[in-house]
Amino acid sequence: MNPDVGRGAGVDGPDAGGPVEQSVAVTLPDAEATRAYGRALAGLLRARDLVVLTGPLGAGKTTLTQGIGAGLDVRGQVASPTFIIARVHPPLGAGPALVHVDAYRLGSLDELDALDLDATLDESVTVVEWGEGLAEVLSEDRLEVVVDRPRGAHAQPAGDAVVDEEDLLDAEAGARVVTVRALGPRWRGVVLPAGLGG
Ligand SMILES: Nc1ncnc2c1ncn2[C@@H]1O[C@H](COP(=O)(O)OP(=O)(O)O)[C@@H](O)[C@H]1O
Ligand SMILES: [Mg+2]
Repeated sequence: MNPDVGRGAGVDGPDAGGPVEQSVAVTLPDAEATRAYGRALAGLLRARDLVVLTGPLGAGKTTLTQGIGAGLDVRGQVASPTFIIARVHPPLGAGPALVHVDAYRLGSLDELDALDLDATLDESVTVVEWGEGLAEVLSEDRLEVVVDRPRGAHAQPAGDAVVDEEDLLDAEAGARVVTVRALGPRWRGVVLPAGLGG
């Protein structure tokens, strides 16, 4: 597989809504590719790092987190928790723990506060799965990852019953586009993986 890659130049300045050090977009053809990309991202991650995953239910946020967990070499299966909102995966080796938060169903920022993530931040990589839109309050330094289907795959022309054959194939293939934006000084000069690497 040879994922499509687009690399955005760093966008800085007041219009960008914060210092975006860089961004990269990668097309991932299937769930295994998404896990592989998570492993590639994990190679950059260290204690205190925050990764915020946004995207609709079923986009692949947990799948990506499974790859991050594998890359960090932590204990336990990264899964979609039914009742547990935050799970700590201790490291098997010398690396950081993974704190996996599924905030998708959280009703408010107060509920996120109540998880007291500050307590574990220092020794852990914290990955928060989130719905859309509220991530920016969490930390100045963060990776914002948007997981979504390729744009064409669910575009429905209004009042038009014709279904684009290529769109259907995309949806069947399960391709996802992952866009990573690195924000804050932590990520200055760090090169984001633009593909699945080795
Ligand atoms: N390219 C892909 N990347 C990630 N998941 C994919 C992909 N293609 C198909 N899938 C499937 O889509 C589902 C994504 O579920 P999940 O990772 O739990 O999503 P979320 O956490 O965003 O709700 C899984 O069943 C996974 O196997
Ligand atoms: Mg999930």
